Amino acid sequence: MNEEQRKSTSIDILAERDKKAKDYSKYFEHVYQPPSLKEARKRGKEEVNYNRDFQIDEKYRNMGNGKTFLIKTYGCQMNAHDTEVMAGILGALGYTATEDINQADVILINTCAIRENAENKVFSEIGNLKHLKKEKPETVIGVCGCMSQEESVVNKILKSYQNVDMIFGTHNIHRLPEILEEAYLSKAMVVEVWSKEGDVIENIPKVREGKIKAWVNIMYGCDKFCTYCIVPFTRGKERSRHPEDIIEEVRDLARQGYQEITLLGQNVNSYGKDIEGLAYGLGDLLEDITQIDIPRVRFTTSHPWDFTDRMIEVIANGGNIVPHIHLPVQSGNNAVLKIMGRKYTRESYLELVDRIKAKIPNVALTTDIIVGYPNETEAQFEETLSLYEEVGFEHAYTYIYSQRDGTPAAKMKDNVPTDVKKERLQRLNKKVSYYSEQAMKRYEGQIVQVLCEGASKKDEHVLAGYTSKNKLVNFKAPNEMIGQLVDVQVDEAKQYSLNGTFLRASEKAVVTQ
Ligand code: SAH
Ligand code: SF4
Ligand code: F3S
Repeated sequence: MNEEQRKSTSIDILAERDKKAKDYSKYFEHVYQPPSLKEARKRGKEEVNYNRDFQIDEKYRNMGNGKTFLIKTYGCQMNAHDTEVMAGILGALGYTATEDINQADVILINTCAIRENAENKVFSEIGNLKHLKKEKPETVIGVCGCMSQEESVVNKILKSYQNVDMIFGTHNIHRLPEILEEAYLSKAMVVEVWSKEGDVIENIPKVREGKIKAWVNIMYGCDKFCTYCIVPFTRGKERSRHPEDIIEEVRDLARQGYQEITLLGQNVNSYGKDIEGLAYGLGDLLEDITQIDIPRVRFTTSHPWDFTDRMIEVIANGGNIVPHIHLPVQSGNNAVLKIMGRKYTRESYLELVDRIKAKIPNVALTTDIIVGYPNETEAQFEETLSLYEEVGFEHAYTYIYSQRDGTPAAKMKDNVPTDVKKERLQRLNKKVSYYSEQAMKRYEGQIVQVLCEGASKKDEHVLAGYTSKNKLVNFKAPNEMIGQLVDVQVDEAKQYSLNGTFLRASEKAVVTQ
């Protein structure tokens, strides 16, 4: 088959499938609802509805009896938490979890769209499943998460990945029972992606991954529209949960014995601003959560733009809010920050860091950095290096800029060759490693409090856990210590972890180490 023929055949297949899907949509309301990034960009004034009466329809309750599921998760904590929600829904339908992909009756791929390589990984994963689908055609394969919100991805799946049975997005996870039902009944690929964010739905069942640490969503979406970023398109407009719903969830986690929670949002500093008449922000929420008996509370991610003195004050007051602030800077150069749409300058960022350090002297600061932004010069990149030194971050996640279709930056011409970007990333990573090592070295000889999570990944006879500032510590201790805060004497600092000697179960929780 020549190129022309191949093209027209795949278009035929596509048209056929489109037609089938549309026919089906007569019977099933949402069966073919593809995404649109253009629609997703819009920010309406409509009020967000809060649905506290969510229930799974009784008729689906036995749908998964005797069947198993497996969810593969890519991307950020938000996605990991969505996976817990999907696991909860599937559990409520009667499915049980399996770790064996060849046994799973339902396989969901929860995807991330943040960079091209994240997307490539997903496509190769879906490609790998073609074989399995051939062997076991009754397996239902679903693609969900942020990539599903992009029309280019949906089109590519429709065209080249016929082994996929259903695609749904980030806004309609709660419709998983209906979507699954449609996938069982429909011969066509079920596509149900909402480009406009939906309601905030409380009380969806969840099966949390662990019994020690938990994620708590405090808001959804992002309105910052940094010029490189796809998230405001894939996650919709900012919608905060109501304080009482969050507090109730945290109290419930405390009652269940969870030792650590992480409050989640794309930009948690905006928390509460979207709820009309609510004069209550992240500082207030953090303060209220300090009253709850849970030893450690983290929050992520903070945009430097609206980090308030109130927040600094609450963290400085101690209690259970850990003095670890992840504060993505992205670049140390003003011109680059401007075209990124980050809304702060190098100077105002450094001033914020000074304010934080003055009030919280033991703070651990970490960051995210993008190198090789379109037309970034060597001198501009060097300003990122010098800012890194000036702040002395304890760690950073570093990325080469990746063009995301539909974002404003995708239209910018880029004169920075790939090898220059790679070389900059290497130079930056060298600095990151140096500072991380220094941060680790400071712990040698000290006693730290560790939340013991279980056996180390590398050695089953060794236990491992994290300090409040997220340093991994390995030590030998009785298994009863799992799930508890313990005191450990640090003997040796490695590049990414500390080795220590177990002393005792901690008498009381402290977050200052
Ligand atoms: N809401 C968070 C970021 C979530 S994405 C925040 O603003 O802090 C996590 C990180 O991925 C970002 O901080 C950024 O450093 C990186 N990132 C986002 N889009 C990117 C892109 N197009 N190319 C490369 N890195 C990107
Ligand atoms: Fe993306 Fe910026 Fe929103 Fe973070 S704040 S999710 S980087 S648009
Ligand atoms: Fe990726 Fe979506 Fe998170 S794009 S980083 S999974 S919000």
